[in-house]
Amino acid sequence: MQKKTQYYTRTAQYLHWIMAIIFISAWLIGFYSGNFLSYDTDGSLKGTIITLHKNIATVIIFLVIIRIFWRYTHPAPQLPDAMSPTMKTMAHLGHLVLYLLLLALPITGCIFSWSAGHPAPVLYLFEIPRLVQDNPDLLDIIKPIHIYLSWFAGIVVLGHIFMALKHHFIDKDNVLRSMLRQEK
Ligand code: HEM
Repeated sequence: MQKKTQYYTRTAQYLHWIMAIIFISAWLIGFYSGNFLSYDTDGSLKGTIITLHKNIATVIIFLVIIRIFWRYTHPAPQLPDAMSPTMKTMAHLGHLVLYLLLLALPITGCIFSWSAGHPAPVLYLFEIPRLVQDNPDLLDIIKPIHIYLSWFAGIVVLGHIFMALKHHFIDKDNVLRSMLRQEK
C-alpha cells in the first residue's frame, strides 16, 4: 500500500503563505483606513490607502480559484490520529469557513467599490470588468456586509493561527510542519 503523504505539496504551501501575507496585509490596511482615516481630515491619504487596499485584496480572487482547484486535485495530509473525531470535524469546518471567507471578502469588496461608483483594480495593472453599476441602495447593504465579514474573518484567522501554534507547541504533532516542509 502506498504511504499517505504527511505534507502539503510545494504549490499548496506557496499558495497558503502568499495568500496569508496578502490577506493579513489587506485586512490591516482596510482596518486602518476604515477606522483611523476620514475623508474630512485625511482626504487624499484616505483615497491612496483605500486604493492600496483594493489593489492588494483583489489578487485573492485569482489565487483562491487556483487554490480550490489545487485542493481538489491534491488531497491534504490526514489530521493526526490523536485528534478526536469531533476535533477533526471542527478543523475541517474551520477550513471550509476560511475558504468561504477568501471568496466572500473580495467579492463583497468589489461590489462595495462598484456600487459606490469606483473600480476594482488589481495590482495597479488592470481593473476587474465592472459587474455592478453605481447603486446607492446596494451600497447601503453591501458595505456593512463587507465590514462585518472582515471582522468575523479577523477572528477566524486569529483562531486558525492559535490552533496551528497549539498543534506545534502543545500537541507537538506534524500539523504546522506539514505546511512548511517536504518529505525527506
Ligand atoms: C481578502 C480580501 C479583503 C479583506 C481581508 C478586506 C478587509 C477589510 C477590512 C478589515 C476593512 C475595514 C472594515 C472596518 O471599517 O472596520 C475593509 C474595508 C473596505 N474594503 Fe475590504 N477587504 C478585502 C477585499 C476588498 C476588495 C477586493 C475591495 C474592493 C475592490 C475592498 C474594498 C473595501 C473598501 C472600499 C473599504 C472601506 C474602507 C474605508 O471605509 O476606509 N475590500 N476591508
